[in-house]
Amino acid sequence: MNRRDFLLGTAAAGGVFGAAGWGLASATDRQQLTIQPARFAFRERPTEGLVSLSPDAPPPVLFGERGRPLRLRVSNGTPDYTAMHWHGLRIPNAMDGVPYLTQMPIAGGESFEYEFTPPDAGTYWYHPHCMTMAQMAHGLTGVMVIKETEDPGFNGDQAINLRDFRLDDEGAFLPYYTARGAARAGTFGNVLTANWLQAPVYDHPAGGLVRLRVVNSDTTRIYKMHLSTEQARIIAWDGHPVEFELPLPSAEEPLLVGPGQRVDFAVQMPAGEGQTADLVAELPGRPARTLAQLRSVGANLARDMRELKPLPSNPVSRPDLANAEVHDFVFGWTPEGGPPNDGYCGSMGYSFWSINRTPWAGDAAKGTGPLAVLERGKSYVLRLRNESPNLHPIHLHGLAFIPIRSNLRKLPPLVTDTMLLLKDEVAEIALVADNPGDWAFHCHVIEHQKTGLAGYIRVT
Ligand code: C2O
Ligand code: CU
Ligand code: CU
Repeated sequence: MNRRDFLLGTAAAGGVFGAAGWGLASATDRQQLTIQPARFAFRERPTEGLVSLSPDAPPPVLFGERGRPLRLRVSNGTPDYTAMHWHGLRIPNAMDGVPYLTQMPIAGGESFEYEFTPPDAGTYWYHPHCMTMAQMAHGLTGVMVIKETEDPGFNGDQAINLRDFRLDDEGAFLPYYTARGAARAGTFGNVLTANWLQAPVYDHPAGGLVRLRVVNSDTTRIYKMHLSTEQARIIAWDGHPVEFELPLPSAEEPLLVGPGQRVDFAVQMPAGEGQTADLVAELPGRPARTLAQLRSVGANLARDMRELKPLPSNPVSRPDLANAEVHDFVFGWTPEGGPPNDGYCGSMGYSFWSINRTPWAGDAAKGTGPLAVLERGKSYVLRLRNESPNLHPIHLHGLAFIPIRSNLRKLPPLVTDTMLLLKDEVAEIALVADNPGDWAFHCHVIEHQKTGLAGYIRVT
């Protein structure tokens, strides 16, 4: 595959896991997660009005294991409604966390017990799907690591949750969405963080092999990223192992990682103590920015990348393209559209974007049918057409799909849950409809989602 085709085409984000005492939760059978107000000093002065799972730290990395039941009790310690979604996990529909579609919103003081068995290992993430714009913009996004049943043999594992905050000079929140942004690429934050820190440094054994999980949980930004080292490999994409060689991104040809996407790298740490391997982002009109650093400590372990076994593949069914029915979806502006009815889940008050020229009537609107009805067990091709000049990370819940072709580029056959649609792109994705239920289907630029670029697909 042509390197450029790939780099322009895919995006992934990875999770991260790391260290550094920010309240890691462990993989127990049952975990209590309490959504609550938080404060945190991004700069000198603490920022008030954050939403997290503890009063003074980012939402922790949550751990599970493939095939092992997980019970997550989400309690709402805020006055607003909420619901929690487990992005990328192919779990039963009733546990998917989409208000009005799969559950009722969780009121302040109430709880919802999510119970599921992750079928796939890899890097996933969690975020609210009710009051999505407000709660995500104020911090409520976290990495979820589902471990393989066998140890894949790394010397370290580092999750990096990338996201921006929109703050004034005093550290107070600026408006987190704008009509101007919503009608274009979205409203960008101005404080770029990794695990809520600016360019944090994480120590790992010199010469060791580290699994770097990068997750883009931002509401808007499509990161263009690369590593400062060439001693690295992309090993997973949107949670799933990559079973072929992908080019390593560079400053000239960075990797596009859209909101919702994840990429896992295997990184060989530099041999010399104190040396670093950096995650770097290219920013429009500004110098490249180091997002996070891995720093070598201790004696050189002198591991070799070739010692790594391929990650075990996840049980994703391969679509039968010869017999797949095609469904078309057009993403663009809407000719007209009233304000969406999102019930208790927060609305921006108007519609602008649409799927198939119809803006989403809102999560709580009655009588909004599915965009498509798929028969369980059958293969489908979804043809996604972007009629706008803006990029859209199109995300489907509950099912994994494989990009198969595009009018603009060659698409590597990755297994994914989010397709970053480029300007004027028509891309086809293929899937087996093997998980029954109503699955949300929307743009992960949250201002686009909340102003109409949303809907759902039914698998019966
Ligand atoms: Cu990341 Cu509808 O979700
Ligand atoms: Cu999702
Ligand atoms: Cu969009």
